[in-house]
Amino acid sequence: MAIADRISKINHPKSDHVGILESIQDANLANYLKTWQPMSYKRAKSFPSFMYTSEAVYQLERQLFFSKTWIYVGHLSQLSGTNSYFTTSIAEIPLLIVSDRQGVLRAFHNVCPHRAAPVAIGSGECNRFICPYHAWTFDLEGNLRGTPNFEDYEDFNPADHNLTAVYVESWGPFIFVNMAAECEPFEAQLHELPALFDGYQASEWKRVHSVDYYTDTNWKLYVENNAENYHEPVVHKSSYSTNEVSWNNSYDLIRCEARHYYYLQQTPHPKDSDGNNRFKPELIQAGLPERLMESSSIVSFWPNFAWIACPESIIVYTIDPQSASRTRIRWEWLVPNTAAAQSPENLERLITLYDRVQQEDMDLLPLVQKGVESPGYVAGPFSPSREVGVHRFQELLMEDLSGRR
Ligand code: FES
Ligand SMILES: [Fe+2]
Repeated sequence: MAIADRISKINHPKSDHVGILESIQDANLANYLKTWQPMSYKRAKSFPSFMYTSEAVYQLERQLFFSKTWIYVGHLSQLSGTNSYFTTSIAEIPLLIVSDRQGVLRAFHNVCPHRAAPVAIGSGECNRFICPYHAWTFDLEGNLRGTPNFEDYEDFNPADHNLTAVYVESWGPFIFVNMAAECEPFEAQLHELPALFDGYQASEWKRVHSVDYYTDTNWKLYVENNAENYHEPVVHKSSYSTNEVSWNNSYDLIRCEARHYYYLQQTPHPKDSDGNNRFKPELIQAGLPERLMESSSIVSFWPNFAWIACPESIIVYTIDPQSASRTRIRWEWLVPNTAAAQSPENLERLITLYDRVQQEDMDLLPLVQKGVESPGYVAGPFSPSREVGVHRFQELLMEDLSGRR
């Protein structure tokens, strides 16, 4: 059965936007959603405090776009081939990603239709999923195959109790899912990104490292921090001074733009005195187009995917809310598929450098969270040249929450 047919038969959670908005109890929030209007970044103010602190906002975000837009869930190399799977969760929604018997990529809610246990845990290879609670059994296409002690249940139809499928697509090695019953095609959300960045040939890079960072910060503050470079010479002063990161010495040359569903920041690489770039040939991806050799990029793609990419490394972000005030950030490290790039020395150099940059942000952001929780903060303006990405992110979020998109 085609996935679209299956999804259309699923009794999806009720997601009537108007009904959800009408049920909001918080008067401040209800009024903000009702009266919000798009405004130029040269005049707009950022979110009021409650957008970063309210449990009601967090639950709305889960209902109205984390479960309705294309979200990043993981890398294809987390699947080892046919009959393999991995589990994850985004915004506390458990998901199961599968490569089935034919190697077809599938994704399901990782929830047993019997009594809601996860049908799979961790990752691995298997021919069947056996629920760890009462041992209902499912094949890798999500069909219910075994139900112990159900012989006497009247008119039991296994096909009514298959796993709940969700849409799944990949862009290069990056896997995205959409849990909506009907959704915009993934290509429409990606827009120009493949044309801009498929030259990296990210499928050929090797995923060598992954780490989960946790911060007592609302997820939006983390995304916003990653969608502007206003803070970089201040927060990352110490890393800038190392002369190792691509964006040092060129702050005024950095180009920031926000379009469609993404923010894009491009930084020309510093050159040595002979006019050559600083990368060692054995550490970079062969065959990169000149444009990608000359600058590094930060992409922040609505709502939870981002990267920092340059010729020798791509760090992929999953920004995953755990509550209204706590966020998991998974960093996955990709390097070119060469022995030198994957050598322990090179990996240690890259990981140490960028971990330090991450730590500089992670030291500051919980303090910003305390700030937005303070009665002393209302809402601030945006730097017109440096914070267009934050403005676009907030616009996208409000378009979704208020039902204008
Ligand atoms: S919850 Fe899965 S078999 Fe009961
Ligand atoms: Fe930063």
